[in-house]
Order: sequence, then structure tokens, then C-alpha cells
Amino acid sequence: MPTHPFLLTLTLSQASALLKTHQLTSYSLVHTYLTRIDEVNDTYNAVLQTNPSALEEASFRDLERLHLDPSSVENLSILHGIPIMLKDNIVTLDDSMEATCGSLALVGAKPAEESAVVGALRRAGAVILGKANMAEWSGFRSTSGCSGWSGRGGQATGIYYKGMKASGSSTGCAIAVALGLCFAAIGTETSWSIVSPAERSAVVGFKPTRNVIPSDGIIHASRIQDTLGVLARTVEDAGLLVSILACDDEVHPKVLKKPLSTIGDRNSASLGNIRVGVPGRLLEIADISGVRMEAFRQVLDMLQTQGAKIDSSITIEGTEEYDALSGEEKQIVLDTDMKTAVNIYLSKLQTNPNKIHTLDDIIAFTKACPEEEFPDRNVAVLERSNATNPENELYKKMLERDKYFGGEGGIPGALKRYNVDVILMPCLSPMMSIFAAKAGSPVLSLPMGVFSSDTEIKLDVRGMIDIAPGIPFSLYIYGGVEQDAKVLQVAHTVERMISSHVRDALHMYLAPQTDLCVRDSILESETIPEADSDSAISSSDT
Ligand SMILES: *[C@@H]1O[C@H](CO)[C@@H](O)[C@H](O)[C@H]1NC(C)=O
Ligand SMILES: *[C@@H]1O[C@H](CO)[C@@H](O)[C@H](O)[C@H]1NC(C)=O
Ligand SMILES: *[C@@H]1O[C@H](CO)[C@@H](O)[C@H](O)[C@H]1NC(C)=O
Repeated sequence: MPTHPFLLTLTLSQASALLKTHQLTSYSLVHTYLTRIDEVNDTYNAVLQTNPSALEEASFRDLERLHLDPSSVENLSILHGIPIMLKDNIVTLDDSMEATCGSLALVGAKPAEESAVVGALRRAGAVILGKANMAEWSGFRSTSGCSGWSGRGGQATGIYYKGMKASGSSTGCAIAVALGLCFAAIGTETSWSIVSPAERSAVVGFKPTRNVIPSDGIIHASRIQDTLGVLARTVEDAGLLVSILACDDEVHPKVLKKPLSTIGDRNSASLGNIRVGVPGRLLEIADISGVRMEAFRQVLDMLQTQGAKIDSSITIEGTEEYDALSGEEKQIVLDTDMKTAVNIYLSKLQTNPNKIHTLDDIIAFTKACPEEEFPDRNVAVLERSNATNPENELYKKMLERDKYFGGEGGIPGALKRYNVDVILMPCLSPMMSIFAAKAGSPVLSLPMGVFSSDTEIKLDVRGMIDIAPGIPFSLYIYGGVEQDAKVLQVAHTVERMISSHVRDALHMYLAPQTDLCVRDSILESETIPEADSDSAISSSDT
């Protein structure tokens, strides 16, 4: 069995326990991640910048732990001292840390307040490690391809095949977590912006019920649909992170209290009363490769063995109506939301060196700035958005229709009609993601397999490698609003059965070499020559 680098197997509870017993320091954790970023960032372009205060913040957390009495240390958050990466549309006020949504137009621009999630991270004692590259304007800039690309950060690429497309828009977050350049990352999703890049990097992407993690103060693409979520290496870590960052007990008191006890119990293998729906017709019309379908069938079999009831012919009522809509009808709500959201954000800026006050200013800046690569990468989505008006009749009509796509005609309606707890898909379904966005319901993507060596290579429109041998694919789990616990429970069960198999099949073409090693029962940074990597300590998780 291959040995995996220590940092890639370290779980949040293990890291926290090592910190609390002083066998590990936040300082050496941060130092190791910073070294690893240096080693591979030129290759993958995943990290836009690191936080110049990260080592200092880590030392402060180490001191805090040393000076508290043992019972108070026990009470510290499990995130205390843990280095977290942020997508670049999340705002911090640290010195020289930008918040630009990937656009050079916003370099140096800052509002007066940090994003709410940053406050929650700080209260828990997490260390903000840096900002991750993303698809510029969360993918709402261009129709000529900005997947994982931003003017500020260039092209981020996937780690399992040279020139591999890594998807977006939380691209850098997913890559950084997979490479072990941070412990975990906070991303955002309008539709599929967390779960899809998580799939490409073979990490867990979890978009919880909307507003379980408050989205106030981020650079929104849509104030109605955007959701904060997490990218982590395990389902348990993802669930823990979300529960810590969840609104403090007022708005969503029960959503995530339960999954902690459920998923914390590693011995309770049975899925008892869980009912799983599979949208048979959606699968028929999607062109799904044999390897992926085979892996999905095995997952369904395993779930059945664990006691889950499976209904493999559910339908989502609104899919045909949605399919038949015109492009304009499909786009108008988000196009209109984008203009409102961006203009509100811009109106709150306290510093604004490029004098960007409206979407129109963004378009003009983007066209004029060479690094923004206009016209090779167009600004068609920004222009579409600029042309909208919230008083438009079609906008009002489609906004009203969204209640159906996000309700009876969408995921909530299907869950209720077929009496199922979750819906499973073997691949990204843009329509399911859009329906989940309109419902504000949770989605989790979990690594399920890897394309085999005889897979035919496929390129995307910009010539990036889309499908190839060694590229991972994920299972998608959709749940009901505030039913995050059930999504986590199913994900955790599947993960326990397949994760070591998936992990053994993954090979990065360039991996960081520095890792944590034990010296005198203390963990410290050390560069491990590739040939000796078997001597790296391997943790004993599952
Ligand atoms: C990562 O690489 C990009 C491109 O080479 C560079 O602009 C950026 O500053 C690097 N980030 C860090 C944190 O080294
Ligand atoms: C730790 O938490 C428990 C439970 O909330 C509380 O009763 C106890 O006073 C706390 N201990 C300290 C030292 O803060
Ligand atoms: C954006 O909208 C404004 C106001 O409707 C208009 O004056 C301007 O020409 C538009 N800009 C672009 C680039 O389409």
C-alpha cells in the first residue's frame, strides 16, 4: 500500500489534538504550507498571495494555547491555529491582502468591513493563510472561457495531468486543498462553483444550505443565490468546518448540530432509514462514460448493503420546462442580480485606486488593461449584466418562476414526491446545480474514481485537457433545505467505503516535497526527497 504524505492524511481532529498537546505548533504548520506553496505555485497558479501576517498570527495562537490552563485549552475551537485559504471574493482587511474577485480593477480597493465569514474564522482562532486564484468575477465575465483563469492570477491548472482544466470558480481553493497548500479552504458557489472544482481536484466540496454560513460582505455575483461553502480533504472535516462557521445558533440552530454526532461515530455503518433517489431519465440523456457509470453502480450497491433504500427512477418535474427556456430566459435573473450585487459592493468601497464605481467602469477597465487579455477573453457576460434593469418584465416573470424551479418543480418537490432524503448523480449536472442554487439547498461532491488508462483525451474550447487518464471524477449528493446532516451522513458512508481506493489511484504530476516529520515527538517541517517519501510518517486514519 502506498504511503501518503502526512499533511495529506492529517484530519482536523488529529491536527487540533496535536496542537492542543503541543506536539505541533501553528507556526510550523503555517511555515510548512508556505514552503509548499513556494515549491509548486509557479506550476499550478493556485495561490494569488499569502498573508504576510500568517506566521505572526500562528505564533500568537501558539502562545495563547501555551498560556491557557489545560481545561481552557480543551475548550478552544477545533479550528484554533488551523491555516485556512480564502477565495479571492472574500474580503479581509489584513495589510496588503487584496480582495479582487480575480480582477485587476479591484487591486487596492477595500470596503470598511471584512466578510462575515472572516470574523467567524478569526473568532474560532483560525489563521488566514492567503487568497486563492479563481475564475474572474466568479465566472460571470466572459463567454470565451475564463475557467480557472483570472486577470490577477492567470490560468490555474489541475494537478493530475499537465495542462488539465481545473474548473471553477473556486479553482485555486480546490487545488490548494488537494496539494496540501493549506488545511482547508472557504469558497463560494452560485451554481457548481465549489462542487465542480472540488471534483477536478479530488477533494470534498460542500455547499451547505444557503446562509448557514453568512455570506455578508463577500463580493457577490448574486445576492439571492450565492452560498459560502468549504473545500476539505474529508467529509468529516467539511462538516466540522461548516458547523463552526454556521450562524451562531440564531438562524439555523439545528442544521448542523446533528451531523457532528452522526458522522463522528465511525462505527455506526448502517444507513438505516436513509432513502436515496436517482433521476433515471437525467442519467439516460447525459452521456456518461462507462468507468464513471460503473463506479456509480458500485456506490449504489454499497449503499443498499448498508441499508439505504434506493429509488432509481425519480424525476425532477421542472427539467423539461427549464430545458425549453431561451438563453435570455435562463440568464436574466443572474445577469440582473450581478449588476445589483456588484454595484452595491462598489458603493461600499473606502479605498478605490482605479475609481471603479459601476459595472460600466469594470468593463472599460477590463478592455483597457492588457493583463485582462481582452478581446481574446471577452466581457460578454459583464455587458449582458450591464444592460439589465430590475424593472424588466421578463426579469420579474423569471424571478417568479424560480420559485417553481427551486420548489415543486425542482429538488424540494422531487424529495417530497418520492419520499427520498437525498438525490445522487454520477456527474456534474448543470441543471441540478442551478435548481439547487434556486432552492438554496445543499450539495456535496465526493471523489468517486479516476479515469482509466485507456480513456480518450478530450480538450475544452480553449485547448485545456478536460478528460484524460488519471483525471478524477466525483459523486454528487443533493439534499433538502436544512437537511445538510443527511447529505453528510450519506457522503461519509460512501467515503469510508471508497476513499482509500480513490486516493491510491491519484497521482499528481508535481507534488510539494516539504512535509511535517516527527523529531523528539514534535512535528516539524522537513523536505523529503521523493525517493524516500515512504519514510514520511503516515497517520492512521481509517
Ligand atoms: C503564485 O504564482 C503566481 C504566478 O507565477 C504569482 O503571480 C503569485 O505571486 C504566486 N503566489 C505566491 C503566493 O507565491
Ligand atoms: C469549558 O466548557 C464547559 C462547557 O461549556 C464549561 O462548563 C467550562 O466552564 C469551560 N471551561 C473553561 C475553563 O472555560
Ligand atoms: C452600461 O450601461 C450604461 C447605463 O445603462 C450605459 O450607459 C453604458 O453604455 C453601458 N456600458 C456598456 C459597456 O455596455
